[in-house]
Amino acid sequence: MQLKIGIIGLGRIGNIHYNNIRYHIPEAEVVMVSDVDKNRMPDDVPYGDAGTLIGHPDVEAVVICSPTDTHANYVAQCAREGKHVFCEKPLDLSLARIRETLAVVRQHDIQLMLGFNRRFDANFMKLKALVDEGKIGDVQLVKITSRDPAPPSVDYLKSSGGLFLDMTIHDFDMARYVMGKEVKEVYAAASALTGGAVAEADDIDTAVVTLKFEDGSMAVIDNSRKAVYGYDQRLEVFGSKGMAHVENNKPDTHMYYNGEGAASALPLHFFMERYTMSYLTEMKAFVKSVQGKQPVPVGGGDGLKATMLAVAAQQSVERNTPVTLVGENVVHQ
Ligand SMILES: NC(=O)c1ccc[n+]([C@@H]2O[C@H](COP(=O)([O-])OP(=O)(O)OC[C@H]3O[C@@H](n4cnc5c(N)ncnc54)[C@H](O)[C@@H]3O)[C@@H](O)[C@H]2O)c1
Repeated sequence: MQLKIGIIGLGRIGNIHYNNIRYHIPEAEVVMVSDVDKNRMPDDVPYGDAGTLIGHPDVEAVVICSPTDTHANYVAQCAREGKHVFCEKPLDLSLARIRETLAVVRQHDIQLMLGFNRRFDANFMKLKALVDEGKIGDVQLVKITSRDPAPPSVDYLKSSGGLFLDMTIHDFDMARYVMGKEVKEVYAAASALTGGAVAEADDIDTAVVTLKFEDGSMAVIDNSRKAVYGYDQRLEVFGSKGMAHVENNKPDTHMYYNGEGAASALPLHFFMERYTMSYLTEMKAFVKSVQGKQPVPVGGGDGLKATMLAVAAQQSVERNTPVTLVGENVVHQ
């Protein structure tokens, strides 16, 4: 039996999931879609408003790809209707709201998976496997470079929650995932250097975040909203037995040499190109978990933890001091 899925929000990421489910996952089908902009919806799939979709008896699972500030409401509605949920990151911008939403999810027998797609990237999965196999030894340092080619629109930025909650959140999740440990301290510095949309939205665009884990091991994340050479996504793990790193994916591997030097293709331009397969792999994992009644690989708790790190980073920048995390609480020093 195919898993019957409804999709809410058919923008950049919604279209990726729509096409993957419709054309590349035979175990699932898209039975309904919903977007406040009717022009975004395909002609040949039933559509309705979000409430109708969530309550529709044909819909077994809902994929939420609308703007961030709609996620928590839709997740709670889905839980009350007994619908499984795949929700794009972040779950919400407020920790209190995330906790309330997760409480509703726990009261109902549904699966909730968060869209931390980078865990499903083949390169990062290999690196994680090396860590888990002990090939790196005791992991002491993780370095993540994560830079976008260009900032999103002012409208998007204004509802995004800012750099840490919108963009670095993927890196916070990756750091926790690779390390397999929890963070006890966050120290962040940030600036606004690129002008344009970021300045208009009164956001930051450049940041360095240091994470200290329970055992003293560390992660360093550097972010920019504007890398002129494309989407810069690199990861390094360093430990007592060695080091492993992942370089950028490029559209081809050619190198051109002449008397002045050597040149290669630029990195794949943005997330749609770089993480194409990871979106398909994560959605297959969601469908498999729901159909097999197995726990999803990335849950609501992972969403809460990544958001806690983002909130701590914001507070660290505001106070210019490290911020401590104790259990599920952000504590000021
Ligand atoms: N995992 C990833 O790599 C990734 C990448 C991009 C975006 N995202 C997340 O996905 C979400 C959407 O981002 P996007 O870039 O696709 O945005 P987008 O602006 O391209 O698309 C959002 C869509 O939602 C629709 N919409 C707006 N309000 C709605 C509502 N109340 N109900 C239903 N539909 C509504 C809009 O008309 C639009 O079609 C954000 O939360 C973002 O953080 C995740």
